[in-house]
Amino acid sequence: MKKEIYLDNAAATSVHNEVKQEMLKYFDLNYGNPSSIHSKGLEAKNAIEKSRETIATIFNCKPEEIIFTSGGTESINLALKGIAKSMKNKGNHIITSKVEHQAVLKTCEYLEKYENCRITYLDVDKFGMVNPKDVESAICDNTILVSIMYANNEIGTINPIEEIAKITRKYNIYFHTDACQAAGYCNLEIKKLGVDMLSLNGSKIYGPKGIGILYVKSNIKLVPILHGGGQENNLRSGTENVMNIVGFAKALEISQYKRLEETERLTRLRKQLINGIVSQITNSGLNGHPTKRLPNNINISFEDVDAEAVILYLNEYKIYASIGSACANNEKNESHVLNAMHKSDNIDSVRFTLGKDTTKEDIEKVLDVLPNIINSLRKIKETIKIKKK
Ligand SMILES: Cc1ncc(COP(=O)(O)O)c(C=O)c1O
Repeated sequence: MKKEIYLDNAAATSVHNEVKQEMLKYFDLNYGNPSSIHSKGLEAKNAIEKSRETIATIFNCKPEEIIFTSGGTESINLALKGIAKSMKNKGNHIITSKVEHQAVLKTCEYLEKYENCRITYLDVDKFGMVNPKDVESAICDNTILVSIMYANNEIGTINPIEEIAKITRKYNIYFHTDACQAAGYCNLEIKKLGVDMLSLNGSKIYGPKGIGILYVKSNIKLVPILHGGGQENNLRSGTENVMNIVGFAKALEISQYKRLEETERLTRLRKQLINGIVSQITNSGLNGHPTKRLPNNINISFEDVDAEAVILYLNEYKIYASIGSACANNEKNESHVLNAMHKSDNIDSVRFTLGKDTTKEDIEKVLDVLPNIINSLRKIKETIKIKKK
């Protein structure tokens, strides 16, 4: 039987065994509602507070600055809508970039349409990186928030978050960063980063899906988007998902502990795959920054090849990758990220995202089958073209 080679870790990771074991306790032993005042409730409440402290230690922040949510999308919505609503009287201008995740872009669209906000979408360079100088130039008297992602989910480019934070501090403007893809590989120390809010989720760090956090600096007032029982310091009502919270904290703890070692290991594998592809396959090229990129991200465009077909061919070998624009919802699978980088209109891309189980042999297997797949697809395309003439 063929071994499965999972190279779609930017979409979702497996759940770490230690995480699973922690979570299982909350199915049959500690199932109480954290708001109940009997022992079962207190056990659940304690589990949440212990998890919050674990995360706060990693971030080097106060536990009460960590708000549990249902994932990256909700954290981002809370950060952006929460600030826009609470700062209504101070300003309505938000700065973001053209390459953000849809969770940011669609929230900004909503704020433009329904909350009278004005949004500046910054251009990026040819590697998909935001220039801090562009952030500074876009700031005006009405600016209330800058939201720039830490690392890009399609192309893996890492933004200069600390430099941007220096600028937002200079102008006394809040700075939110979407760190969903960065968590396993980048520094999350809040004081070093200088951000005011940071969104994170469990599904990219070998934790459960449907759980996230928003770090909110203690001096910031957010207007909640969910109203009800007043959980999470009145910022996120609804019975807490205790097992996911516990699983998230464990997953973050493990991923931070292994961060440097994994970064080094995956950077080597990344190099092996990129070099192998561009040296063996003509008219193929890497998208994103060559070095300032996530160690697990390889995003490649193959000229004259439909990325979806590559994914389906790879699937036959039990190799699981994704189209570069994994979150695209337009019919043509067009990537707003590649478009912003001014890659030519009709080029799409394949994204391989490595993970904790990826081995050198897995990369060799991909390099063994991929050139033939690309050659076959190019031949098919050529034949169709000739027949059409
Ligand atoms: C960069 C980035 N931001 C936000 C999200 C949304 O997170 P979630 O699916 O947990 O809502 C994702 C998930 O793919 C992501 O990669």
